[in-house]
Amino acid sequence: MSARKRTVVLISGRGSNMTALIAAASNLDYPAEIVGVISDRANAAGLGIAAARGIATKVISRADYTSKDAHDGAIDAALVSFGAEIVALAGYMRILGARFVEKWLGRMINIHPALLPAFKGLDTHARAIRAGIRIHGCTVHFVTLDMDDGPIIAQAAVPVMVGDNEDMLAARVLKAEHRLYPLALGLVAEGKARMEGGRTVLAHFADDADNSSSVVMAPDPLREETDLEHLARITP
Ligand code: GRF
Repeated sequence: MSARKRTVVLISGRGSNMTALIAAASNLDYPAEIVGVISDRANAAGLGIAAARGIATKVISRADYTSKDAHDGAIDAALVSFGAEIVALAGYMRILGARFVEKWLGRMINIHPALLPAFKGLDTHARAIRAGIRIHGCTVHFVTLDMDDGPIIAQAAVPVMVGDNEDMLAARVLKAEHRLYPLALGLVAEGKARMEGGRTVLAHFADDADNSSSVVMAPDPLREETDLEHLARITP
């Protein structure tokens, strides 16, 4: 196997997606290794989780820099010092500037809790419920200048159940995120998904033909009840 891609995760808070990436990368056959975690908030819970797993962490607070550019510059310098080849945003709540985004274009990915291009921005689950959609989900995409707008790498869909509230739906999507993000980072690290001419180019998947006739449907709510109870128990 060729060298594993050195990956740095940027967080602002809880860090459950970061934890999923670290877990995937603990397998030496996984094509990316997590070499560092950077947070813009000193109190991000994810920092302690990363440290407990032996991952180097760094806090780079906006308040310590006179401008947004200087803050981005400090993050960039930290990425260089980690020898980062891929940057994975995982609940990083700050918009990165154009210079930074351009430098890491094609090498920086993000997870968004909705099926893009629907529901860009915040409060995606509440908006999904208000819109009455039956299928919701999450997206991993390359980061480009416009927020939540870059080429899509992978998506996972979950049903919106009758009677769902925002927290129930968020928990169901989060569970899908934790499976999707390791998969998508793996594709990028292996070179099977790359950004070219503003689009994602996916390598040919031998078994893709098997999927061509599948239909994703919101399932019968009654049959999902046990799963919902299970989800309620694991909601962070
Ligand atoms: C996730 O829902 C992610 O999709 C969004 O922010 C949330 C971060 O959660 N970008 P966590 O910090 O990974 O637990």
